[in-house]
Amino acid sequence: MRTGTNINELEAQKQKEIMERLKARLEKRSQELGRPLTYCSVCFGCQMNAKDSEKLEGILETIGYVRTENEDADFLIMNTCTVRENANLRVYGRLGQLKKYKKKNPDMIIALCGCMMQESLVVEKIKQSYRHVDIIFGTHNVFKLAELIENRLDSKGMVIDIWEGTSEIVEDLPSERKYDFKCGVNIMYGCNNFCTYCIVPYVRGRERSRKPEDIVAEIKELVADGVTEVMLLGQNVNSYGKTLENPVSFAKLLEMVEEVDGLKRIRFMTSHPKDLSDELIAVMAKSKKICKHLHLPMQSGSSKVLKDMNRSYTKESYLALADKIKKAIPDISLTTDIIVGFPTETEEDFEETIDVVRKVRFDSAFTFIYSRRSGTPAANMEFQATDEEIKGRFDRLLKEVQEIAKETCSKDQGNIMEVLVEGRDEQDENLLTGRLSNNLLVHFPGDSELIGTYQNVKLAEAKGFYYIGERI
Ligand code: 5AD
Ligand code: SF4
Repeated sequence: MRTGTNINELEAQKQKEIMERLKARLEKRSQELGRPLTYCSVCFGCQMNAKDSEKLEGILETIGYVRTENEDADFLIMNTCTVRENANLRVYGRLGQLKKYKKKNPDMIIALCGCMMQESLVVEKIKQSYRHVDIIFGTHNVFKLAELIENRLDSKGMVIDIWEGTSEIVEDLPSERKYDFKCGVNIMYGCNNFCTYCIVPYVRGRERSRKPEDIVAEIKELVADGVTEVMLLGQNVNSYGKTLENPVSFAKLLEMVEEVDGLKRIRFMTSHPKDLSDELIAVMAKSKKICKHLHLPMQSGSSKVLKDMNRSYTKESYLALADKIKKAIPDISLTTDIIVGFPTETEEDFEETIDVVRKVRFDSAFTFIYSRRSGTPAANMEFQATDEEIKGRFDRLLKEVQEIAKETCSKDQGNIMEVLVEGRDEQDENLLTGRLSNNLLVHFPGDSELIGTYQNVKLAEAKGFYYIGERI
């Protein structure tokens, strides 16, 4: 655990000095080669990881690497996720393939970071079976990338730097934003909830909130730089500020962010139902800027399973909360996460989940088959269903969720609503893609100059999970 007063600024300063040195060093190498040095950044997992990757990319660009989407780059960084076993397997698969690139370009540097690296068994496996990896670090020391690269260039051996935890929050380093007009902003790190299936508290550490004034200052800077939409990020934003020296509620933070002139939209991720306050609902209901979208992971509809998951709410209290939110904010879009096949889930428990899905009528739901994560309490629980039964439940749930979502998502067909234009449509280059306040996408004909602006669009045709529209 790292602690210390004012270490943040000192640390940031130190990293900036290292970046200067590295920049000169890499420039020399680039001149010798007669070409720019490239980097490729691969990111798995959630919005937090995406945000961390932007920070990593900011450092890489600062020291002179040029971005490429090709994995045979001079520097390849993979930011990993370990929330489900699948995510881990994908990383091992990719790592195997990278060997051939490294053979062709022995100077290539391969770096791994993120949640998966916080697990000692993973690091052991990489040390033994993937010797071509150069740098390994975790979730707590993303800001140190430049120093780790310098260490690698000096030592020639594998550089491993994993911190068990941290109380430090090092900010004020470069970040390479994916979009000019919207940006994620970390408001807190870590999680204290210890849901019994979840590995996040073990790999992302204890909950730490940033001071509200630092968050607001960062958002003001972003707005001055052209950003009009921010996404406030935390594993459980509803418990924001509880551990600060001067505690501040998440609802209060939202009110402070709302005051920032020039900011048009505020989003946040993720809410835990147990901490969602009436104060927050009231602030959302009267806000002009907070988007009409709430992601409220339910995980299961069975009170028994929820108890075994350590979620601290019941089927009834979740339903009551969803009802209260919909009454206070009628045009809100509610989305959720659901896990199927938690060890203690029986057929009856699963039926309860289906029942909640039918009652709440989510606009969309991410559904997952339970994945055993060693070290978590649920890993030792006995399964009540076979793999086949669980797969059957998953398919039934998916069908239900999709049918309902298709209906709820089409409710605005024919209406005129405002979108933030995010880019060209990936499928059809004649179309632009815009995002509604409720998070749905609208594809409509238009010029690239509109990217980053707000436009009124008629939602002409509901296509299930998106609309085809026309600009008004
Ligand atoms: N197995 C399956 N899904 C999981 N999630 C978290 N841990 C697991 C696990 N062990 C899901 C939860 C969470 C989302 C981000 O990932 O639904 O909300
Ligand atoms: Fe995992 Fe639960 Fe924390 Fe979310 S709230 S990160 S599911 S432990």
